[in-house]
Amino acid sequence: MIKIAPSILSADFVNLERDIKAVSAADWLHVDVMDGCFVPNITIGVPVVKSIRKCTEMFLDVHLMIDKPVRYIEAFAKAGADLLSVHLEADHPTRIAEALKIMGECGVQKAVALRPITSANAILPYIEELDMVLVMTVEPGFGGQAFMENQLDTIRQVRAIIDKYNPKCRLEVDGGISPKTAPLVIAAGADTLVAGSAVYGAADRAAAIHALRGNQG
Ligand code: DX5
Ligand code: ZN
Repeated sequence: MIKIAPSILSADFVNLERDIKAVSAADWLHVDVMDGCFVPNITIGVPVVKSIRKCTEMFLDVHLMIDKPVRYIEAFAKAGADLLSVHLEADHPTRIAEALKIMGECGVQKAVALRPITSANAILPYIEELDMVLVMTVEPGFGGQAFMENQLDTIRQVRAIIDKYNPKCRLEVDGGISPKTAPLVIAAGADTLVAGSAVYGAADRAAAIHALRGNQG
């Protein structure tokens, strides 16, 4: 079953509660945390996630685009994240493993994220304990960028690894997802689609979410 996760990066932050309620037809809420260091943009942090938690029951899918994320796992878990994604490029493998261990101790779902430059095989040391792998289909940092079609290969490779080692693991894609690109990533093996501008750029957000599901129900 395909899950749609609207990214609030494209919401109106002054009217965040209104814009969160506007996407209640979706499955998850995707929250992009950026530190101005791992990516050249700064967005939101722990206090905002805590406030979001108070205004929605939606599953909070928190995408950490920050250096050395191990430092903040416990804080985001306590703030109310349901799932945390850490980028494999953001620290040494031992510290990524440590971040995943803390997620387990805090009772949040565990995910690793891949920048476009990172090969699918990089997930191999962690795959058996993961709840999700996030494949970026743009360079992380900004909403509204063009979908990178060559990432379809990475999606297919990650799908093959998941099917072999941990079939329950979800495969999320993030960046440039629209009604046009959604069928391509689903065919390549994605089951969870993040969409910022395709949802918040539409006048009717529920219709935009429906359009992303295509004929997948
Ligand atoms: C980009 C973020 C995405 C972003 C996607 O670094 O991780 O979640 O919001 O935006 P769109 O769907 O507009 O490409
Ligand atoms: Zn994201």
